[in-house]
Amino acid sequence: METLRDKVAVITGAASGIGRATAWSLVDRGARVVIADIDAAGAEQVAGEIAAAGGSALAVPCDVAAEGAFEALRDSTADAFGRVDVVMNNAGVLTRGLPEHIPVAEWQRVLDVNLMSVVRSNSAFLPLLVEQGSGHLVNTASFAGLFTYSYDRLPYAASKAALIQLSEGLALYLRPQGIGVTVLCPGPVVTGIAGSIRSFGPETTTRGPGPEFEALQPEQVGEQVAEAILANRFMLQTDDNVRPHLRNRADNWDAYLNDRITALDG
Ligand SMILES: NC(=O)c1ccc[n+]([C@@H]2O[C@H](COP(=O)([O-])OP(=O)(O)OC[C@H]3O[C@@H](n4cnc5c(N)ncnc54)[C@H](O)[C@@H]3O)[C@@H](O)[C@H]2O)c1
Repeated sequence: METLRDKVAVITGAASGIGRATAWSLVDRGARVVIADIDAAGAEQVAGEIAAAGGSALAVPCDVAAEGAFEALRDSTADAFGRVDVVMNNAGVLTRGLPEHIPVAEWQRVLDVNLMSVVRSNSAFLPLLVEQGSGHLVNTASFAGLFTYSYDRLPYAASKAALIQLSEGLALYLRPQGIGVTVLCPGPVVTGIAGSIRSFGPETTTRGPGPEFEALQPEQVGEQVAEAILANRFMLQTDDNVRPHLRNRADNWDAYLNDRITALDG
């Protein structure tokens, strides 16, 4: 996309963290934004702050796991702004526990919010984007979907890995039709997500992707997303230190896995 000026961007999970910061980065480049979140008051607050600063924003209460949520979001966006250019599927939840302790129902909840929401979003928004032959999708995955650094959040990691694959397939389909796709893979970012983690079974030691990854502020990630949309870039890893992990794993997957097990012991 050559410019974000006067474009309309819908962002889920935009009441806080990465979604909120991305909304501001897009507004700073002239876009109008729809702040969609299950936290209706938080969404109103963000939209109000953007409006107070002279930007154009609409708050829409939205549970991305609910039937019909994306059709309602699409219709509210069309009523307010008359078009859609960018759809950022960003809402996500985390759950923690050993593999045998996380209930199936919790697996289903995480997959529903993190992965099936994007399927629902596609059903509502893709027909519009395909018909206009322009636009951009951003799907928020995670380092957790790129390589394995812990075993106590498998529903999250599985949902994010699936999202990367889903996004790559979408890029294959949509790029030739003039629609960009970015998969955002953040490393650690200082947001409120830890506060909403559900835990099952005995306490586990929380492990991040590694000490080489500096925690970013959401505003830094928002800027990276805006630039990735403008550059029509598919893979957005927020930290280049992820590359040796991916290279080492591709070279010798078993050796890499053994190194990770040793790192967990350390
Ligand atoms: N913070 C990190 O370190 C990090 C790292 C990698 C990936 N991510 C991903 O970034 C995305 C944004 O997370 P964040 O870190 O900004 O966290 P956050 O908790 O600050 O923001 C998440 C937002 O999603 C909303 N949300 C949760 N469930 C929802 C639902 N069912 N429907 C609509 N909205 C819902 C929350 O209300 C919240 O406003 C998530 O997909 C997360 O997995 C975060």
